[in-house]
Amino acid sequence: MSTSHSTSPSTSPLPDYRAQSPSVAVRFAKLKERPVVLTVENLTRRFSKPDGTETTAIENLNFVTHRREFVCILGPSGCGKSTLIRLLAGLDTPTSGRLLLDGKEVHGPGPDRGMVFQGYTLFPWKTVMQNVMFGPLMRGTDYAEARRDALQWLGLVGLSKFADAYPNQLSGGMKQRVAIARALANNPRILLMDEPFGALDAQTRAQMQKHLLQIWKNVDVTILFITHDLDEAIYLADRILVLKANPGRINELIEVPVPRPRDPSQFTSPEFLATRARLDALIHPPATSATEPTSTENLPIIRLTQAGDDVE
Ligand SMILES: Nc1ncnc2c1ncn2[C@@H]1O[C@H](COP(=O)(O)OP(=O)(O)OP(=O)(O)O)[C@@H](O)[C@H]1O
Ligand SMILES: [Mg+2]
Repeated sequence: MSTSHSTSPSTSPLPDYRAQSPSVAVRFAKLKERPVVLTVENLTRRFSKPDGTETTAIENLNFVTHRREFVCILGPSGCGKSTLIRLLAGLDTPTSGRLLLDGKEVHGPGPDRGMVFQGYTLFPWKTVMQNVMFGPLMRGTDYAEARRDALQWLGLVGLSKFADAYPNQLSGGMKQRVAIARALANNPRILLMDEPFGALDAQTRAQMQKHLLQIWKNVDVTILFITHDLDEAIYLADRILVLKANPGRINELIEVPVPRPRDPSQFTSPEFLATRARLDALIHPPATSATEPTSTENLPIIRLTQAGDDVE
C-alpha cells in the first residue's frame, strides 16, 4: 500500500489516534502479556567522521518487543533506522547500551535473527531451493531434512513451483519472497526487515504486504520492519516506533488502533486516518525557516538542454 493510496478525507472529525475499541484494547493487553523477545536498553551508537567530529546515529533508545509482535520503524532519513537494524543483526556494536534477545546479550550475528533488505541478496548462482537450504546446511542440518524444510518454507511463500528456478528468472516480488523464506528457514526468533519492499512497484508492494501478514500469521516470529511509507506501517504493524533525527531518538511509540485481520478496505477507516494524520504530523512537521525551502521558487535554475523551445 503506497502513500499514493487514496485516503479521501472524511467530513466528520477524526477520532483520537490513541482511542482503541474494546477488542483492540484486549488484543494489546494480551500482546503485552506475551514474553519479551527483544530488549533495547539505553542504546547509543556514535560514528567518528573524518574531520574528527562525531555523528550520534542513535541515542539512548529504550523499548521492548513481545513475542510475535509486528513492529514498524518509521522516521526521517538519517534517524538511525538502518543503524538500529545493523546493531540488532550483530553486524555492528553499540557505543553504549545493550541489546537482549530472549534475555541474552547480542554479540555478533546469529541464526536467531533473520534479515531481509531492500536489495536482492540471493545467491544468483544457486537455485531458489539451494538459496533457502543454504543457512540450515551451513549449520549442519542433514540434507534431506533441509530440503524438506525448504519445500515447506517455499510453500508458505507460494513459490513451490519455482524451487528449481534461478533468481534472475524471478520478478522482484518473487525474489523478496525467496529472501523471506531463506531468512525463516533458520527459524529465527526475530525477522529484521530494512525497507524490504522499497524497490517494488506499488501493486507488487501491496501484494507483498498481504503475503507478509499471511506468513507472519502462520509462523512464530517477531518482526521489526523499517519503512518510509506511512500507510504500509499502519497496515502491517501492531506498534509503530517513530524516530526523530539528529540524534536518532524515539519520538513516539504508537499502538495502531486498526483492528486485525487487516484489509486494504481499512485504509479509509477513521482509526486508520487518525493514525495517518498523527504520523504525518510527526514525520512531516510544518516547514520552518530553519528547514529546507519547500517552494521551487527558491531553487537555482540550471539549464541542461540546448533545445531552443521551452517545455512549458
Ligand atoms: N558507518 C558509518 N559511518 C559514519 N556514519 C554513519 C555510518 N552509518 C551511519 N552513519 C550515520 O548515522 C546516521 C544514521 O544513518 P542510518 O543509515 O542509520 O539512517 P536511516 O534512518 O537508515 O536513513 P535512511 O532512511 O536514509 O535509510 C546518519 O547521519 C549516517 O550518516
Ligand atoms: Mg536506512
